[in-house]
Amino acid sequence: MRLSDSKILHELTALCVELLPGKSLSTLTSLGIGGTTDLLRITKHESIPAILDLLDRHKIPHRFLGGGSNLLVGDGELSWVVLQLVKPEPDVVLEGNLAHVDAAADLGRTVTFCAKHNLGGMEGLIGVPGTIGGALRMNAGAYGTQIGSYVQEVKVYRASRRRIEILRGDQISFEYRHTSFAPDDMMLAVTLNLPAKPYTEIIRGIRICNEKRRASQPMGQKSAGCIFKNPPGASVGRMIDELGLKGLSIGDARVSDRHANFFVNVGRASAGEMLALIAEVRARVEKSYGLRLENEVVVWSA
Ligand code: EPU
Repeated sequence: MRLSDSKILHELTALCVELLPGKSLSTLTSLGIGGTTDLLRITKHESIPAILDLLDRHKIPHRFLGGGSNLLVGDGELSWVVLQLVKPEPDVVLEGNLAHVDAAADLGRTVTFCAKHNLGGMEGLIGVPGTIGGALRMNAGAYGTQIGSYVQEVKVYRASRRRIEILRGDQISFEYRHTSFAPDDMMLAVTLNLPAKPYTEIIRGIRICNEKRRASQPMGQKSAGCIFKNPPGASVGRMIDELGLKGLSIGDARVSDRHANFFVNVGRASAGEMLALIAEVRARVEKSYGLRLENEVVVWSA
């Protein structure tokens, strides 16, 4: 979608929005898949209610993009614009055991920054790609750690109320890869309450998680992490592997040879190919195990 009305463009500039016209989302998602649209980069949290009001008044559909690491975007010209927060400097401010983190901060860098200041707890999240905001929205987790456990409060733009609110951690429910945030809530910042730990101890934990991840997950390939959520007590990766589906491909979309719940883009996969592969694997798992798999990857149709 292209914005061309000069009055709208002028108003967006006045609201400190940087417009990147015709951006390909394939460059903004870890899968390397996605069509083109205008990208609106937000430099000031305070201007968000006015930006959303402007888009609503002009009936311009929009989506909020975090780090793009758990996202499958449709092909071609997209029928909505994308909003993304610009990371401020600094993006993490420490105050005792509290880390005040901007939603646009990189999750892994935040974990190591806190480690250097002897704040731990999040070692398991070290190799999880994406932003703090994205991790928060889906309660990202790995190796026994989930980000929700450390949330003291969240600054969020609530589209339903058209205002920025501060929510306490106990007002949010954090479950396995799911939170009580509304789909149109926009994460702006979070305060994490982290346990004090010596740096050397945290680094030991980080190394162990990195080794486990390197041994079992595809590294350096274009993926969105696990495609499906695990049903309680089971591993979808193991099921897909048991069905002999590692390496199954549709075009350039392929079930990883290393971890069967990772689907990788080995070249120029389209969203159509990746969706077809997801549908095929879902159907085969349902046929053999009687289980209907739920997507972990978020799909934005064109
Ligand atoms: N397994 C196989 N074949 C495979 C993959 C796994 O046999 O192709 C077996 C493993 O050998 C192991 C068991 O399945 O015995 C579980 O595998 P793993 O430890 O990799 O855990 P997982 O359930 O497949 C979950 C998360 C990952 C997270 C890891 C480590 C989900 C959907 N996946 O994977 O999270 O990194 O545990 O904590 O919850 C993600 O959410 O995107 C993600 C990668």
